[in-house]
Amino acid sequence: MRNSAIALMAGLAIVVAASSATGQSAQPYSPGLVEFMMSVQTHHVKLWLAGNARNWELADYQLDELKELLEEIAKRVPKYRDVPVGQMIEAATMPPIGKIEAAIKARDSAKFVAAFDRLTEACNSCHEAANRGFIVIQRPATSSFPNQSFAPRRK
Ligand code: HEC
Repeated sequence: MRNSAIALMAGLAIVVAASSATGQSAQPYSPGLVEFMMSVQTHHVKLWLAGNARNWELADYQLDELKELLEEIAKRVPKYRDVPVGQMIEAATMPPIGKIEAAIKARDSAKFVAAFDRLTEACNSCHEAANRGFIVIQRPATSSFPNQSFAPRRK
């Protein structure tokens, strides 16, 4: 009886010590900019793979997801260090996203590729401005998602 009470107290002490060591165990998880960027990267890849395969339905979906995510980042991370991330997302990425939207609507591959490259330049210009010029985004050479088909559906 006594021994188990002591064991319980010791266990509690460890839990208390562990949570005060991190100091934030009760905080809800909130992703940082880099976690958001990993998702941005995924949508950027999938957008290319879909558009390049003329799978306009999927490309449209990926573009919507990317746009929503960027808007979410602008809201949640308006500033990163001294970089006005929120404003830069609006100014740099929304115009090329509009162009991609138009290319997808027009089912125009050449316009899609050109607008996609503009978006990629916007990614990189922000990385430069944020002192992260070593993070260089490019057109994906291959699919990093072997379990997903990017070909248009046969109807
Ligand atoms: C408004 C500025 C801004 C824009 C626009 C932006 N990024 Fe970023 N990105 C950053 C910053 C700042 C970091 C570094 C964050 C850190 O170090 O915590 C980053 C980091 C990254 C990383 C590094 C994650 C890793 O661990 O490899 C990737 C990948 C990335 N961005 C992809 C993209 C892609 C793709 C786009 C365009 C669709 C994009 N970013 C647009 C600001 C931006």
